[in-house]
Amino acid sequence: MNYIESFEWRYATKRMNGQKVPAEKLDNILKAIQLAPTSLGLQPIKILVVESPEGKAMLAKACQQAQVMESSAMLVFCYWDIITEEKIDNYLKNISETRNQKMDSLTDFRKMITGFSGSLSAESQHNWASRQAYIALGFGLPFTHIFTNDKA
Ligand SMILES: Cc1cc2nc3c(=O)[nH]c(=O)nc-3n(C[C@H](O)[C@H](O)[C@H](O)COP(=O)(O)O)c2cc1C
Repeated sequence: MNYIESFEWRYATKRMNGQKVPAEKLDNILKAIQLAPTSLGLQPIKILVVESPEGKAMLAKACQQAQVMESSAMLVFCYWDIITEEKIDNYLKNISETRNQKMDSLTDFRKMITGFSGSLSAESQHNWASRQAYIALGFGLPFTHIFTNDKA
């Protein structure tokens, strides 16, 4: 079955069958989410994987939906409230280390990011970050189907 055919069978599951999604499949879904493109590459998001009954009970209370308690794992998409200089510098440090680039070479990029964040009100930063979370969700969603459907 190819991806398009697989998507034709995708649907929003309303009740769960009690089976646990194997760790490897969950890891692949999280990896896809991690590889999502975001504005400036800042990835202003954090994904919480909630597997404990206590954690799920808290979410079920907030969502009022039966499938939460029945789920194998709940992925909670969190996003930054505000873009801080510390967060920008952590990002640049990460680029510097992983791409073996000197911090000096990232000065212009840093100016661009601070110029961008400085031009946004707190509310706009919040809206911007939430949209990045939706991109990440959209990147992971197809894989919740592909990676958990052995026929795909
Ligand atoms: C961002 C988003 C939020 C959703 N929230 C809920 C939800 O809270 N409860 C629920 O049962 N389904 C939820 N859905 C599933 C949609 O209702 C479902 O995708 C839509 O009705 C189309 O049905 P299908 O996915 O089976 O094709 C959500 C879907 C998306 C993309």
